[in-house]
Amino acid sequence: MKIKSKRILVTSALPYANGSLHMGHLCSTYLPADIFVRYHRLKKNNVVYVCATDEHGTPIEINAKKAGLKPEEFVKRYRKEHARDFKDMGVSFDIFYHTHSDENRKMACEFFKRAQEKGAIYTKEVELMYCPECARYLPDRFLKGTCPKCGAEDQYGDSCEKCGATYQTSELLGAYCAVCHGKPEKRVQEHYFFRLVQYEKELKKWLMGNKHIQKDVKNYVLNWIKDGLKDWDITRTGPYFGFLIPGEENKYFYVWLDAPIGYVSSTVKWAKMNNGKWEDFWLDESTDIYHFIGKDIVYFHFLFWPALLMAADFNLPLDIPTRGYLTVDKDKMSKSRGTFILLRDYLNRFPCDYLRYFLTSVTANNTTDTDFSYKEFQVKVNNDLSDTFGNFVHRTLTFVKNNFDSKVPVFGKLNKADKVFDAKIDGLAKDVGGLIEDVELKRALEVIMEFSRECNRYFNSNEPWKAVKNDKARAGTVLYLSVKAVGMLSVVLEPFVPCISKELQGVLGIKNTQWGRISVKSGMKIKSPKPLVVKVTDDDIAEDPFSALDLRVAKILSVKDHPDADKLYVMTIDIGDEKRQLVAGLREHIKKEDLEGRNVVVVSNLEHAKIRGVESQGMVLAADKGEDVVVLDVGDSKPGESVVAFGVAKKPAAGLKFNDFLKIEMTVNGKGEIAYKDTVLKTESGKIVKADISSGAKIR
Ligand code: MSP
Ligand code: ZN
Repeated sequence: MKIKSKRILVTSALPYANGSLHMGHLCSTYLPADIFVRYHRLKKNNVVYVCATDEHGTPIEINAKKAGLKPEEFVKRYRKEHARDFKDMGVSFDIFYHTHSDENRKMACEFFKRAQEKGAIYTKEVELMYCPECARYLPDRFLKGTCPKCGAEDQYGDSCEKCGATYQTSELLGAYCAVCHGKPEKRVQEHYFFRLVQYEKELKKWLMGNKHIQKDVKNYVLNWIKDGLKDWDITRTGPYFGFLIPGEENKYFYVWLDAPIGYVSSTVKWAKMNNGKWEDFWLDESTDIYHFIGKDIVYFHFLFWPALLMAADFNLPLDIPTRGYLTVDKDKMSKSRGTFILLRDYLNRFPCDYLRYFLTSVTANNTTDTDFSYKEFQVKVNNDLSDTFGNFVHRTLTFVKNNFDSKVPVFGKLNKADKVFDAKIDGLAKDVGGLIEDVELKRALEVIMEFSRECNRYFNSNEPWKAVKNDKARAGTVLYLSVKAVGMLSVVLEPFVPCISKELQGVLGIKNTQWGRISVKSGMKIKSPKPLVVKVTDDDIAEDPFSALDLRVAKILSVKDHPDADKLYVMTIDIGDEKRQLVAGLREHIKKEDLEGRNVVVVSNLEHAKIRGVESQGMVLAADKGEDVVVLDVGDSKPGESVVAFGVAKKPAAGLKFNDFLKIEMTVNGKGEIAYKDTVLKTESGKIVKADISSGAKIR
């Protein structure tokens, strides 16, 4: 093995304090790092795992304003929420800090100063996009337009999602303000730049000479270098949430300058709290640094960040394991389709270890994308964790309980097959460990599962249930080795499925595990085994009836009386790209003029029907309680916007039957919000759907 009691620093990309964590975050960034770290802890290496919320930048500043909060307050909410989600997912940071901290401010200024001393910082007049309507400069994500490199439309101001190019906001073609859709104007300002070009040779040397970095990413980045690097604009003008540049009044460090420095400042904080020295990790070259990231932030981690480290004379990372995106049911995660599976939604349904197992077993050590579906999840968890691993463990432990008074039996002479099996048990930790060190986590799990199958074969072919009747000593030997295998499995699986492993170790009476060492001794008492893995049933993963609904924001254009029914209106609505006619039973409750011009929510995929002779192409949702009837409020959402219950993937088909719609219960909660089960309905743009009616009202 490469590593012998090493000092290791592991980081995961810092999640923005700007939204809830979803499965994609976990899959690419936090889970692989956590497995890696848990392994090194078991190896008794000096490993520290740091992370923090990334709290600066324009999106956070704008969203805080929208929420009516100071940015400082706004980010605190997500600090708490993220910390809880990570904990419940078994992500075991040594510290989870935040970038809006004194430590980070100091460290960012230190990096800036060191870079200045190296001549790596200069100022230059730049042309910027300014939105007169919003009274702000429009950085990166608040400017949209056509990519100057590949011509893809609707791309952000800093980089293109289609071709991966990064550019200056002023280079964008046909630019418009992403907030108000107004036309921005060009203004000139003096900005600080970091001389990335100055580090071109050094970066190339570092990349080419590094044996750890994935090939796919290395080629990608080397191509960027070949195309020519550009110096990096590290200035943003207020209003901005960030750190002021020393000596400036309204100029801030760009969030991507101080964000990776958050890795360092979080280590500083960790050291303060744990009697450690942060310098050991960042200045002593014998430390191995690993940054775990997703592929959308490669440019920052393979070019800007190492160059900053070079300028400051800090250690460079040994490896930057990079994973692809997570898709759900083969689709990009999308808010409008509700296919964002939040970690909290998952955790409300299944144990964290099942997801840890599943995602690891399908995520390759490269930048290809990974797909999640509850169906695949069920198959993997049931076949591997339950039928293969769980079954072997359960058979072994119940056999010992029933036939050996719950004590690990004594072993006799080992035959040839026993010796082969015993050697496999002893060799397992080394094989798995080597793969984990290379971040080949999927392959490591495959080796463990192959070993579990081997265990079942060993148990079956030795038929201890027969031997125990005529040669109990022989059965004892088989069971001794089987318990030893169970113990070894509990250790090698610990980084991947820590809760299941700990539970198993509790049954075996193993404490203070160390990688590859297990103390299974004859005579050791075993506790009564319970099934470790409960199978995921079809009911558990059944499609939620809500997913069949296609709810949309619609604008009511006109309202008329139904020619043949006193209680009905006939209205025309606009659902974005289409106009429709609906019949609605609101005539006794709401006046025409109170409906006309309003944005409401409609079921857009309901089977069309003739109601008292008039065609109705959908249905307006209303909340009612007793005599009170109101339509729903969607704030300033736009017609056509999708309305979703977060975590329930939208899979509507045309022609939803009215009876199926009636089975879905939505109610108004105590805050006047519309909820399906416990999930509040929101529009694509994040507006909560509400109704001005007392709580408990039903939606129909
Ligand atoms: N704040 C930056 C990182 C700064 S690091 C100095 C950021 N934050 S993020 O919240 O958008 O993403 C956090 C991590 O999750 C990143 O590694 C990102 O690549 C990853 N992912 C975010 N969405 C993802 C998917 N849909 N799929 C896989 N990984 C995803 O980026
Ligand atoms: Zn604007």
